[in-house]
Amino acid sequence: MKILVINGPNLNMLGIREPKIYGAERYDTLCTKISAHAKELGVEVEIYQSNHEGDLVDQIQSAYGRIDGIVINPAAYTHTSVAILDALKAVAIPTVEVHISDVSAREDFRQISYVRAACIATISGHGTDGYLEAMDILVKGGDKNAN
Ligand code: DQA
Repeated sequence: MKILVINGPNLNMLGIREPKIYGAERYDTLCTKISAHAKELGVEVEIYQSNHEGDLVDQIQSAYGRIDGIVINPAAYTHTSVAILDALKAVAIPTVEVHISDVSAREDFRQISYVRAACIATISGHGTDGYLEAMDILVKGGDKNAN
């Protein structure tokens, strides 16, 4: 099994950006945690981050026929991007949406998720452990809502 983990804009600034909301862990530490968890699960993992919407769409398209499950934190594009939703629908690969913070307890504009309609589950507010939980869901092939 091969999992693709996609992170959207500003997530490369983890550990620096708003640590009270997103925690003190750096982006490279998150990548190390994801790789270690993939090893434990016995799956292959690719990790991708971009600040650009079109690059995220390209990466989702490139998963077609190659990747068995996607973990995506589209970051701010969660709340705006029909293009990312359409790309996820186009490839039809089981996808779990992750948010480090509890978006349901934040500003009104964060209550809308365009991508959610293309996801089998959403994990929000579990910090970076949410990425590992999302990988577990994909490996189990399950359908869970972990808000
Ligand atoms: C986020 C929540 C989004 O609202 C925000 O724009 C982000 C990160 C999260 O992981 O909690 O950049 O997706």
